[in-house]
Amino acid sequence: MTKNLITKKSKNNLIADMIRVNQAGEFGAQRIYEGQLAILKNDKTIQKMAQQELKHLEVFNKMLVDRGIRPTALSPFWSLGGYILGITTAMIDRKAAMACTVAVEEVIDEHYKSQQKKLKNNNQEKELLQLISKFRNEEIEHKNIALKHNAEDAKGFKVMTHGIKTITKLAIFLSKKI
Ligand SMILES: [Fe+2]
Ligand SMILES: [Fe+2]
Repeated sequence: MTKNLITKKSKNNLIADMIRVNQAGEFGAQRIYEGQLAILKNDKTIQKMAQQELKHLEVFNKMLVDRGIRPTALSPFWSLGGYILGITTAMIDRKAAMACTVAVEEVIDEHYKSQQKKLKNNNQEKELLQLISKFRNEEIEHKNIALKHNAEDAKGFKVMTHGIKTITKLAIFLSKKI
């Protein structure tokens, strides 16, 4: 009995951590695009991706409230960090902005993929799994759009994407618990 309770509680914590980090990630993504759009104001491609990120964010915002999960305490950092990342990459040029998308989406693709694995056999969270699968596909689409828009021609593509990926992974790690 006690063991069951503990297992159930840790399972719930695991789900709460997942939703917390996803909300943080989608918030960060939205801030990156806001930063990029502050520079590349009328860029239809970026606008379209930003709109999708906003939808992702809204879903996780609602889920936090519905389930009474506290958001990450690091929001102010992701807000500023995401915005700065968006602005600086867009200021370099459009290709650098696209390279930023490639880097972030590669990490998010892996992140959602690992959540899909964890939720695969969880009958209580089928809806969550469905959402994550849908969002993951859209993130992959964003990456492919960015590649089509010459992300790889950005100056120092490898170094830049490596740096952004490292930052993104760190942000994900921290947002799970904090
Ligand atoms: Fe997203
Ligand atoms: Fe995305």
